[in-house]
Amino acid sequence: MAMDKIKSLMLSVAVATALEAGAISPRATPTQPDWFQTSPDLYAGTVATGAAPFLAEINPAPFGEATYVHNAPLETSEPIKGAHGRNIFHLMGDLSPYFSPEEGFCVDEYPLPRGANITQMHLLQRHGARYPSSSEGLDSWGAGIVNATAKGTVFQGELEFLNDWSYKLGKEILVPKGRQELFDSGILNFYNYGHLWDNSSKIVVRTTLQSRMLESCENFLAGFFGLNWRNHANILATIDPATTGEFSCTKEGETIADTIEIPVGTWMATYLKERTAELKRLAGNYTWTVTDTYHAQSLCSYETISLGYSDFCRLFTYEDWVNYAYLMDIEFAGYSGFHSPTGRAQGSAWVEEFLARIEGHLLDVPANTTGANMTLDTNPVTFPLDQKLYLEFTHDANIVSVLTAFGLTQFADPLPLRSCAFYMCSYSNES
Ligand SMILES: *[C@@H]1O[C@H](CO)[C@@H](O)[C@H](O)[C@H]1NC(C)=O
Ligand SMILES: *[C@@H]1O[C@H](CO)[C@@H](O)[C@H](O)[C@H]1NC(C)=O
Ligand SMILES: *[C@@H]1O[C@H](CO)[C@@H](O)[C@H](O)[C@H]1NC(C)=O
Ligand SMILES: *[C@@H]1O[C@H](CO)[C@@H](O)[C@H](O)[C@H]1NC(C)=O
Ligand SMILES: *[C@@H]1O[C@H](CO)[C@@H](O)[C@H](O)[C@H]1NC(C)=O
Ligand SMILES: *[C@@H]1O[C@H](CO)[C@@H](O)[C@H](O)[C@H]1NC(C)=O
Repeated sequence: MAMDKIKSLMLSVAVATALEAGAISPRATPTQPDWFQTSPDLYAGTVATGAAPFLAEINPAPFGEATYVHNAPLETSEPIKGAHGRNIFHLMGDLSPYFSPEEGFCVDEYPLPRGANITQMHLLQRHGARYPSSSEGLDSWGAGIVNATAKGTVFQGELEFLNDWSYKLGKEILVPKGRQELFDSGILNFYNYGHLWDNSSKIVVRTTLQSRMLESCENFLAGFFGLNWRNHANILATIDPATTGEFSCTKEGETIADTIEIPVGTWMATYLKERTAELKRLAGNYTWTVTDTYHAQSLCSYETISLGYSDFCRLFTYEDWVNYAYLMDIEFAGYSGFHSPTGRAQGSAWVEEFLARIEGHLLDVPANTTGANMTLDTNPVTFPLDQKLYLEFTHDANIVSVLTAFGLTQFADPLPLRSCAFYMCSYSNES
């Protein structure tokens, strides 16, 4: 039944994209495959849409002070204990709706020196905000809560909303906010780098065929070039996750317990201990554990980006959110960053591709050493060297691996599990 639903959704996505014009590449010849065909998309991955939002009806704002409710897509102004005006939506790791951090990634900015010119731009951009991944188990968690209330469990106090709550999210695809993020990024980058666009030929941009990746790329291009972007760019979309070598390292799975599961589990049990005890008291005869608390915390970000507002956010204090952001750091560092023995290996393909482009040659590393696709990277049609704009779209974990392969050791801090790291604590203390 569920599978049928997914299949019929895939079919309607394929039909919708097939109606879009102009996907055929002018460069394709009978002797070359059409590298740039992206519709119909047979490799979109899991594509489950969620409930249509109705924020006008569910938004409980105003929260007591102002009576005018700011007309923005997401309700992020709910009162949070200990926040004092600071924004918990900046403390959700990769799940934060996109924002520019005030500390500017701890890098000072300077204007270009006089006489210096920018001749190329290389962008490696994450896809936009999305529904939960299939692997996160939030849908079955939601089903368990609904089961419990259907069988008579009564949640109390701050958890009372669960008595008539249900899980309304889809899976994996972009939420509307995600489309906006990528469109906005295209516009931002056009202001910064539009001058590098040579409109006499089409550029090749790269992404994967996974639904959220392809749509992120398309929304960016619509922002950058306008709705006629197909006249200016060909999308080279590979079968996910093969863009930039992520998962190419065959030993990657062997270290996951040591570098992710144990540290993340330890940190989760530590920072959520008190909150779990408190919520358990409100959960009636439902056996509420640390995992339930963590799922509830994750649903704050997912419901907010999907439906506009979430009752889960206010279950947590500002400090809980600082600790949640720290959990994300531990997870990414151990998955594909400096705490993973395979982090550099996972990112090396893109770094080699970058070097080849700035040195002006096709990729010439030995086959099977980086995870790069040598068929594509040794063909000037699919690995052009004459572009000033190289626009690429990928997954968050892959960006972390690329930063690691570049050796940017400002992301190599140790992340102790007893208390949150110095820089996060100092972040939480800022006013
Ligand atoms: C740098 O840019 C300026 C202004 O567009 C231009 O006059 C100059 O020729 C450029 N120099 C190089 C080395 O490209
Ligand atoms: C919900 O309850 C049904 C019937 O008792 C059971 O078969 C199912 O496994 C439960 N689902 C979850 C997610 O707890
Ligand atoms: C939970 O409590 C309700 C209300 O007392 C009861 O109907 C239900 O059977 C209980 N469920 C479990 C799993 O004990
Ligand atoms: C390319 O840009 C030039 C200069 O701005 C403009 O005159 C021309 O119409 C543009 N061509 C296309 C195909 O957009
Ligand atoms: C390289 O990419 C092409 C085109 O997407 C694909 O057919 C081929 O299987 C890929 N090769 C590898 C080794 O991933
Ligand atoms: C690279 O790996 C592929 C698939 O594992 C294999 O078929 C191929 O022979 C390898 N090539 C080299 C040069 O080792």
